[in-house]
Amino acid sequence: MATQAKGGHAHTDGVPAVLVINGPNLNLLGTREPEIYGHTSLEDINRELIALGTELGIRVESFQSNSEGALVDRIQQARGNIDLIIINPAAYTHTSIAIRDALTAIEAPVIEVHLSNVYKRESFRHHSTIADVVQARLMGFGAEGYLLALRAAARMLKLQQEKREER
Ligand code: DQA
Repeated sequence: MATQAKGGHAHTDGVPAVLVINGPNLNLLGTREPEIYGHTSLEDINRELIALGTELGIRVESFQSNSEGALVDRIQQARGNIDLIIINPAAYTHTSIAIRDALTAIEAPVIEVHLSNVYKRESFRHHSTIADVVQARLMGFGAEGYLLALRAAARMLKLQQEKREER
């Protein structure tokens, strides 16, 4: 777990912080292969995540990049500031050891999200370099999957906090 601040959460104001990371080509959501990925844009998803975060008492930050190094840098910056990461590494899911290593280095729980059910698709999409280091995986729910992941994140963080208070 990241360095704990006031209220037991990584962020200094005591409000739990969740970082939502999206990998390459997800900036094109809404227009990119809508029959697979749907019609909702990434901006719409991020807006809905922030609104749901407010409802759940969670500060939501979001980040998208097409570049593997930028994704690794953003994950590293989360160390000590972010309580949980929700990540869709997109095509890097299937290739990136660097993203896997960054996720294990920061020690915060991670939820892996995919819009599509990758197991219904080409076999090269069946392998994930992060599947065995994440807390949970969620796929096939389209854009709704990010909101489901945030609800799950809220429960995970609450349980974590309760356990900490028992000690
Ligand atoms: C994806 C699935 C990946 O195989 C693909 O490369 C993506 C999106 C998904 O959300 O379904 O870009 O991660």
